[in-house]
Amino acid sequence: MARVNDHYLKLKSSYLFSEIARRIKAFQAAHPEAKLIRLGIGDVTRPLPPAVIGAMHEAVDEMARVETFRGYPPETGWDFLLEAIARHDYEQRGVKIATDEIVVSDGSKTDTANIQEIFAADCVVALTDPVYPVYLDSNVMAGRVGTADAAGRFDRVVYLPCTADHGFLPRLPDGPVDLIYLCYPNNPTGAVMTRAALKRWVDYARERSAVILYDAAYEAYIRDPAIPHSIYEIEGAREVAIEFRSFSKSAGFTGTRCAYTVVPKELQGRSASGEPVSLHALWVRRQSTKFNGVAYVIQRGAAATYTAEGKKQVTALVDYYMENARIIRQGLEAAGLTVYGAENAPYIWVKTPGRLSSWDFFDKLVNEAHVVGTPGAGFGPSGEGYFRLTAFGGREATQEAVERIKTRVAL
Ligand code: MLT
Repeated sequence: MARVNDHYLKLKSSYLFSEIARRIKAFQAAHPEAKLIRLGIGDVTRPLPPAVIGAMHEAVDEMARVETFRGYPPETGWDFLLEAIARHDYEQRGVKIATDEIVVSDGSKTDTANIQEIFAADCVVALTDPVYPVYLDSNVMAGRVGTADAAGRFDRVVYLPCTADHGFLPRLPDGPVDLIYLCYPNNPTGAVMTRAALKRWVDYARERSAVILYDAAYEAYIRDPAIPHSIYEIEGAREVAIEFRSFSKSAGFTGTRCAYTVVPKELQGRSASGEPVSLHALWVRRQSTKFNGVAYVIQRGAAATYTAEGKKQVTALVDYYMENARIIRQGLEAAGLTVYGAENAPYIWVKTPGRLSSWDFFDKLVNEAHVVGTPGAGFGPSGEGYFRLTAFGGREATQEAVERIKTRVAL
């Protein structure tokens, strides 16, 4: 019998959203008449913008003709997309990112899970708590953590608790760390990091030679003009940060799959013998070995989000979801719940009432209102006592969910 990777045995038996899907399937089987409203997983519900669809149709037609057919995409992405990203996502915000520092991929989940492969197995990882589970689980799989305590905290991982008294923002680590995962706007709490707060992290990473893995998948949801959209808006970040961006939540690509990762040329790790090593070179090496790129049709669709039409349509999509966020936030506050997030992020972070555990509140909402959310404990021990709802539902479903919570749930 082949020996398995024992590190997988340390993982919770299933990924958070698979566990929720399993429970919901069981509930639906027992209550086939119940009309569930799903505000659990952050999956979009609006169709792709017309500009994207138009570009994809044209690209499909190109694939149908021998003169314009394309096979494997270039390793790091087609130039038309790389140039659009560099110009619109960075140059227009005063940030210089070269096209060859961008690597197009099929998702930020994939990239944030895979990036740890280019670092040594004994690197110390720092994670916010609560956290998007992929950052932790991918490091568990790689053998970078020790054993878990009763609360599920692994030793050899530095947890950075994010609690209400500190605006759900992490404090700088006490001890040495090598890799720091940050996600802003934050999934799951909806918190954002000010320029000053982000600068403290960049300065910290520069002083300690740590690398920040900055997940900015939700940057399109920032409303406050003072909040940075990219970590590279902070001086010195090019020397210490890798940034992950996605078309999933901004332009509705969760099913279509397109994202990108920026690894600046200055950014270096070190070899066992202490020699500096380009992280950009390692990431391109990793991607070109294990991934064959995003389909031409999809990259054409992603590039269309940067056209004048595409930008307008993406803004309208984001506005639509942010109106849902407002409806949920105001509705739950009116019901007497304490609510965070939802102002610069599509997530609503709710304090569970009456000291209910987050899984108990999950069951209560499913049973009494037929509304599915995500228990905060699924994002880490500090998520206990909280519950996450997403703004990615349809408008009517969102309004109906809020109404049901207000009228059917004994809070
Ligand atoms: C979530 O619900 O946290 C997101 O859908 C996760 C993801 O983007 O993979």
